[in-house]
Amino acid sequence: MLRTMIAGTGYYVPERVVTNEDLTRLMDTSDAWIVERTGIRERHWVDEGMSGAEMARRASEMALRDAGMEASDVDAIVFATLSPDHFFPGTGVFLQRELGLEGIPAIDVRAQCSGFVYGLSVADAFVRTGQYRTILLVGVEIQSTGIDISTGGRDMAILFGDGAGATVLTTSEDGGRGVLSTHLHADGRYAEMLWAEFESSVHHPRITSEIIESGRHYPSMDGKEVFKHAVVRMPEVVEEALAANGLTAGDLDLLVPHQANLRITQMVQRRLGLSDAQVVSNIHKYGNTTAATIPIALAEAVAEGRLKKGDLVCLVAFGSGFTWGAALVRW
Ligand SMILES: CC(C)(COP(=O)(O)OP(=O)(O)OC[C@H]1O[C@@H](n2cnc3c(N)ncnc32)[C@H](O)[C@@H]1OP(=O)(O)O)[C@@H](O)C(=O)NCCC(=O)NCCS
Repeated sequence: MLRTMIAGTGYYVPERVVTNEDLTRLMDTSDAWIVERTGIRERHWVDEGMSGAEMARRASEMALRDAGMEASDVDAIVFATLSPDHFFPGTGVFLQRELGLEGIPAIDVRAQCSGFVYGLSVADAFVRTGQYRTILLVGVEIQSTGIDISTGGRDMAILFGDGAGATVLTTSEDGGRGVLSTHLHADGRYAEMLWAEFESSVHHPRITSEIIESGRHYPSMDGKEVFKHAVVRMPEVVEEALAANGLTAGDLDLLVPHQANLRITQMVQRRLGLSDAQVVSNIHKYGNTTAATIPIALAEAVAEGRLKKGDLVCLVAFGSGFTWGAALVRW
């Protein structure tokens, strides 16, 4: 039986660090409010000229080095983002071009904060069927150029950061190791709870100066509703993944949750009965980098030596859509 193994991890965050104190100069907020409600202390925002494709290239090169592979070993790219560099084509082809991999497919995944787990599921299906042997899976986000950084947008603006995470997935030679299963869900009844209404191809023109003046091109969110659903759906899908493999939370060595809010992570941790050492949290440094949070957190956990061969690790996400999902991996 073919299995997908995570052979290498990497990440990149832009150089510019934006602290909570920096945000107080842009909007009515405070370091104390942000830390207490979210756990975030700083995030990284791109400077003019940095693209999602460029961040993806840097993260991918680190992941390839970690895997001991060359770009030419990659058979397909799966690219997860909600903030593509352009409306079309998707950023996957720009990364493919940056890496000099003309000809291989580039698949763009649009599942917001769940994009990386959705992308892993897509890649895993390709590997299991033998269609592609080695897949580069990236999660990349530039949120800072799309949010309202005035007081009117402070509920969102304090949360989000920019960054990229990458993993090199390859066919497992060891039957016991690799991705055990992936579990994906969505509930479109809540689509408008966290969304960007404009620019929209439903309207002609897609955007007007009136819309821009009224700020409706900025994403909006019902933070309380998102929170309530996240703290139920994330533990639920972790339990689903464990049960599908005849395992329980007691078998888990490490949980790598989507980094949306430290309070969400802590509630998920409590519901699963896990210790601090079993849960990865880096939101204080990066904020919510959407599709990039899980691969960045995973790469840091690997670099810190928190994963050893044979460990059971669960990746779990929740986000706009609503979409959510989990992947269970035997390291
Ligand atoms: C956004 C979030 C931090 C807000 O926290 P909260 O405890 O729900 O706070 P509320 O929205 O009730 O706001 C409380 C007050 O703080 C104010 N406030 C909102 N943002 C603020 C900010 N950045 N700084 C200071 N005050 C702020 C509100 O205006 C409100 O004031 P009011 O009581 O005078 O009306 C929280 O709802 C959250 O994290 N939700 C999940 C969001 C998420 O994870 N999104 C991505 C999912 S992938």
